[in-house]
Amino acid sequence: MSSSTNTTETKPAAPAIEKIKVTVDGREIEAPRTMPDPISGKPLPTTMIQACAMINVDVPHYCYHPKLPVAGNCRMCLVEFGMPALGPDRKPLLNADGTPKIAKSPRPAIACATPISPGMEIYTNTPEVKQMREGVLEFLLINHPLDCPICDQAGECKLQEYSVDHGQSASRFVEPKVHKPKAVDLGPRIVLDDERCILCTRCIRFTRDIAGDDALGIVNRGSYNTLTAYPGKVFDNNYTLNTVDICPVGALTSKDFRFKMRVWFLKETKSVCTSCATGCNIIIGSREEKVYRYEPRQNDAVNSCWMCDHGRLNYKWIGRQDRLTEVRRQIEKGRSERTVWNVALNEIAAKLKNAPQGSAAIIASARQTNEELWLLAKLKAKLGALSDSVPRHGEADKLLLNADRNPNTNGARLTGICSAEMGANLRQIVSGIAGGKVKTLIVFGEDATKHGIGADLLGKLDTLIVSDILPTATTQLAQYLLPGCAHAEKRGTFTNAKGRVQKFMKAVEPPGDARPEWEFLHELVFNVTGQNGFLTIEGLFNEMAKNIPAFSGMTWAGLGDAGATVKI
Ligand code: SF4
Ligand code: SF4
Ligand code: FES
Repeated sequence: MSSSTNTTETKPAAPAIEKIKVTVDGREIEAPRTMPDPISGKPLPTTMIQACAMINVDVPHYCYHPKLPVAGNCRMCLVEFGMPALGPDRKPLLNADGTPKIAKSPRPAIACATPISPGMEIYTNTPEVKQMREGVLEFLLINHPLDCPICDQAGECKLQEYSVDHGQSASRFVEPKVHKPKAVDLGPRIVLDDERCILCTRCIRFTRDIAGDDALGIVNRGSYNTLTAYPGKVFDNNYTLNTVDICPVGALTSKDFRFKMRVWFLKETKSVCTSCATGCNIIIGSREEKVYRYEPRQNDAVNSCWMCDHGRLNYKWIGRQDRLTEVRRQIEKGRSERTVWNVALNEIAAKLKNAPQGSAAIIASARQTNEELWLLAKLKAKLGALSDSVPRHGEADKLLLNADRNPNTNGARLTGICSAEMGANLRQIVSGIAGGKVKTLIVFGEDATKHGIGADLLGKLDTLIVSDILPTATTQLAQYLLPGCAHAEKRGTFTNAKGRVQKFMKAVEPPGDARPEWEFLHELVFNVTGQNGFLTIEGLFNEMAKNIPAFSGMTWAGLGDAGATVKI
């Protein structure tokens, strides 16, 4: 395991990218002649829409998505353009002031599929462009149902937004609308409303080119075009819910989220998925201390714009009714009472201070944050304790889902809580308890009874300190029970499978007495070791980074929204 960050590495110089000059709405820019294809990474000619995006000129679009192959079918991105005029001798014609004469094209072009070329001028807000946008929107709306009041996409619908920004206030369409299938059960997690579909094919391209499951297509012709799953195919892969995110309208809806909450009520919090070691960047949508949905957040170093359905739907446990909400201490075997944090932490500190060296063991969880694991590592050092964590495996797929279902295996390794082979020390802990050497066991976020330390062994301990979120057989036997927080209820960092250190923010308040583990661990470490720490997560992370060579040079602020990579 190496201990330097990539911030100090020297990378081989990338080949120079040729730049060409184009003008967007009168502003000259230098744009690369080619940009990488989002799927293959091979260079493709830079398009007008990409050049406009470089200077934040927003060209309205439906079918274009920066991470999908170009389809060019919606026509919403039509712009006008001109090229340097050439004389009969094929030399550029010049204006009186010496600037190149521009020959405006008599026809518009779709910005998403038209490559830029030297000297090109792009016009995105001429009266003609505005009229074309009005026309495209009028066409898109002729058969569109008036579903907005009951549509889940309302509030984040591109048809609504562009109609306001670029459409007309009235429709001239008096003919009966074409009706199409509604509430189609497309698969286990998706409902399709074909009347709302604007046939942009984003969902088809994502499913075919990114998820590798050619399940969707368009049948029938003209106004009767209908999106459907191919006959005999069910739309059921581990990435189906990404189509709900990229569908610009409310045609594809999530069975889990539909009709649950109006999106404008949701608070959005930047976070990280904890369901596997990939650590996809997410936005948590919450309202009044309840989590309603996870959506992917773009991070090209980790998950691009996507996340898997497995991780996306793994949030309901946060709001479970049986969450641990009370600090408890055992009075006698089988009986415990509610207490307060100060009392519990002082009593635990007194016991740990008196524990002979080598008589304690720690089972931490690789679902805990780097900071929490580092604080546990400090306790470990003070107590001369054995420590380990519990591996958690599942099946991997070819896109994002990692076989390691712990979000912070590398954090547990880098902080020294476990060795390269996570779980290797568990046997020693078991035999230590069985042989009477280990008298104190500290367990965080794992059910020890499922990992070889059954109730009989736990009963042999003098002290069993347990922190968890949900009740387990181990929490029932705890002498001190410390209710902890889900990642959505605290701040911290995880180190993913590739060594990316990523921070996540707090979305909701924890229930009852539950507190972020780093907060009470910090108090406990201070009481036991006398080492002062930091009362903020920023200070704690920065201190940890100074102490663990792998994190050297990192700061909480420096992580930004996208994180930074350590060598693992
Ligand atoms: S369902 Fe949505 S993403 Fe798919 S083609 Fe229709 S509008 Fe586009
Ligand atoms: S791939 Fe892993 S980290 Fe990403 S969403 Fe799925 S479970 Fe979560
Ligand atoms: S965004 Fe260009 S044609 Fe659809």
